[in-house]
Parts: sequence; structure tokens; C-alpha cells
Amino acid sequence: MSAQHLESHPQWSTRLAFILASAGSAVGLGNIWKFPYIMGDNGGGAFVLIYLACLLIVATPILISEVMLGRRSRSNPISGMAKLSRQAGVSPAWQLIGWMGVLTGFLILSYYSVVMGWALAYVEKAANGAFVGADADTVEGIFTSLVSNPGTLLFWHTVAMLMTITVVARGVRGGLELATRIMMPLLIVILVLLFGYNIGTSGFAPAMEFMFAPDFSRVTGETVLVALGHAFFTLSLGMGAIMVYGSYMPANASIVTAGFWIIVLDTAIALLAGMVIFPIVFSNGMSPEQGAGLVFQTLPLALGAMEWGYWLAIVLFILVSIAAWTSAISLVEPAVSYLYERFGVRRLYSAIGAGVATWTLGVFSALSFNLIDEVTLFGKTFFGIMEFLTANILLPAGGMLIALFAAWRLRRADSAEELGLGGGAYHLWWWLAAVVAPAGVALVFLNGLGLLG
Ligand code: TRP
Repeated sequence: MSAQHLESHPQWSTRLAFILASAGSAVGLGNIWKFPYIMGDNGGGAFVLIYLACLLIVATPILISEVMLGRRSRSNPISGMAKLSRQAGVSPAWQLIGWMGVLTGFLILSYYSVVMGWALAYVEKAANGAFVGADADTVEGIFTSLVSNPGTLLFWHTVAMLMTITVVARGVRGGLELATRIMMPLLIVILVLLFGYNIGTSGFAPAMEFMFAPDFSRVTGETVLVALGHAFFTLSLGMGAIMVYGSYMPANASIVTAGFWIIVLDTAIALLAGMVIFPIVFSNGMSPEQGAGLVFQTLPLALGAMEWGYWLAIVLFILVSIAAWTSAISLVEPAVSYLYERFGVRRLYSAIGAGVATWTLGVFSALSFNLIDEVTLFGKTFFGIMEFLTANILLPAGGMLIALFAAWRLRRADSAEELGLGGGAYHLWWWLAAVVAPAGVALVFLNGLGLLG
């Protein structure tokens, strides 16, 4: 790897910066919004257990593989996969991983931006004191009136997309490292605070039972598919985001150690979010199965009853918005870095181009909560289809290809060198990536799509 090449491809300033940026990508709406609501829809404890198993057995080796491919190639996912296939003397068709990733990122960001818009809208509502002293019906009404208003949704979707484009246009290093460094600890502090507040409430015990006492009678093939999909989604895995972040990683940092911290941070924040939200649900006699609105209806309720609730609500929704923001940028980064490195398109123009296309697709997601909510396929709205297709199909498929390439196509000497692993640890990774993770994804696919009878 020549010094010249390193100059044209940016790098994080330190190993910590890589961990924080990747954790910034991983920790987002997936942890705070999606995890609690799919856990609620899928019966709680058993889902959490299956999700943790997917994380450990399938997602971890793939995360390590994806970071490794990125750093080995020192390039954007599309050119990077082309380069690695050339070096390994295998088919250039593996570039598909990069192209699929760009497409998946585009699809995810289109609806992600809509939900980030909800979080932004909630900052405004909190500042207006809308939640102070609100009861369950009021809070539900606030959410329902937000999503049933196409104009408001489109406005906040646009703001979210503009924020995303702005950071990506400036390059990942400018400001992002700093934002994650301040945001992450603050988010944890507030969640712990809310958790502490919940401990004394009547809903605490039923919530712990709901989350940690598994009821396997509720588990179906689709439950497992959703749990697996979420393991990918929450770690930003399977579409090149972690690959491109890995490509900016300093050469001397350990990929395995960094991966470990990303997973620990991400999982801790997701579980904490659940332990904050479900006590509120059970204390107020609400149903855990509220779908996508769950977090937006429970948090304001608890905050509205607290002494410092007015301020906490503002800070909390700002943090949720920032968490979403640092994730959203990683969804476009693979595309933007490709356009720059391959065709020399300036970041500003490629960010605008990608932003306009993504925004347009996102309009349909926004409208699927109101004007076109009757248009469904398999009982899912446009938003629901986008969510299912990306998280449960495209990400696991992408992750499977990444693991297969890393284990079977890259020369073993190269992967061992890049990972800095030898002996037993290397073999463990290799077996997990070569056999266990791909087989796991394949089984869950067949089962989830009802093909195993
Ligand atoms: N991981 C983020 C979250 O949990 C979402 C995200 C960002 C993502 N980049 C990604 C998901 C890439 C899949 C792929 O909110």
C-alpha cells in the first residue's frame, strides 16, 4: 500500500475516532425506535434472546469481515471489491457486493429520513411544552396527528435530508468525530436517568419480565427473520457502510477490538432503550404492540410527568435526532465516496444528487402513513415493504456475500495479516465467517419465507 494511495483516501485521526464514528453509525433509530417496537410486536423475551444469538453467531464474524475488506482495499466499496477480487484472482462479479450496498443504502435512507423527521418534529413539540402533564390519550393524539399530516411529514423529511447532505458534503471527518464524542456519552446518561426513574414504577417488574422471560410460543419463522435482520440493521452491516468506515481506519488498529466495542456499545444502548420504554408502557396500561409509533408515544408520556420533564424531553429528542443523523450519513457515504474516487465528482454534487433521489423515494414512505395508507402489499404499506425488504432481505444477503468472500476468496495469509490474528482465534473467525454465518442466514431465509415447511 503506497503512501500516495493513502493520501488520496482519507483516514480517521485515531483508532478511537474510528470506533466512535462506527458506533455513531450503528447507534441510531435502530436502537431507540426500531428495537423496542419490533420487540413489542414480536412478544418480547424470546425475540431478545434470538436477536442476541444472531448478533453473536452471525453478525459478529460478518462485522469483522466487513471492516477487514474495507481496510484491506483502502477504497470505496465498489472499487474496493473490484480491487480485492483482482488481487485475489477471482471473478470481478464480487463487485456486486458494492453495488448492492449502494442500492440498499439508498432504499434505507429514504424511509430512515422520514423517521428522523419525526424525531426532529418532536424536538419542536417538546420545546412548545406539548408533553407537559400530557396523558396517554393526548400523547397518542400528538403522534397520530403528526403522521396523518402529509405536509408536516414532508417538511421534516426535507429538513432531515438537508442535514444529512450537509455533513456528507463536508466529508466525514469534519465535525463528525466531535459530534459523536459528545453525543454518545450524553445519550447514555439520559437513558440511565430515565431508567432510574422507571425503577420505582409499577410497570418495572412486568417490563423486565416481558423483555427477559422468553415465551417461545410466540416465535415464528418470521420472528427469527426479523431478529436476524435487525442484528444487521442495528450494526449498519451488510451494505458497505462499515466497509467504507473501515477503509478510513488507521493501519495499526486492531479490527477485532474495535468491533468488540462497537457491538457492546450498540447492544447496551438498545437494551437500555427497551428498559426505559417498556416500564412506561406497562405502568400506563398501554399495549407493547403499537408498531412504529411506540417510542414516540411512550417517552413523552413519562417525560411529561417528570419534574424536569420539559427540559429532558427537549434534550432527549435532540439526542435521538443526532443519533439518527450520525447514522444517516453512513448510508450515503459508500455512494459518495465511489462517485468521488471513481469519477472525481465533488462531494457536494454527489451528495446533492444522492440526496434528491433519496428524498424523492422517501416521499412515498411519508405518504404511506396518510394519503396512500390503503395501498398495501402482503398487508404492508410502502414504508413497511421498504423496511422489510432492506433489513430482512437485502442486508442479510449482503452480509452473507461479504462473509463468503472474506473467508473463501481472500487469501488466508492476507486476511490473517489484516485481522492481526493467528492460531485458534483466526480459525474461529474463519469457521464462523466461512460456514456458520452464511449457513445461519440461509436457514433463517428459508425458514422465514416459509420454505422449510
Ligand atoms: N445502524 C443504524 C441504526 O441502528 C442505521 C444504519 C446506518 C444502517 N447505516 C446503516 C443500517 C447501514 C444498515 C446499513 O439506526
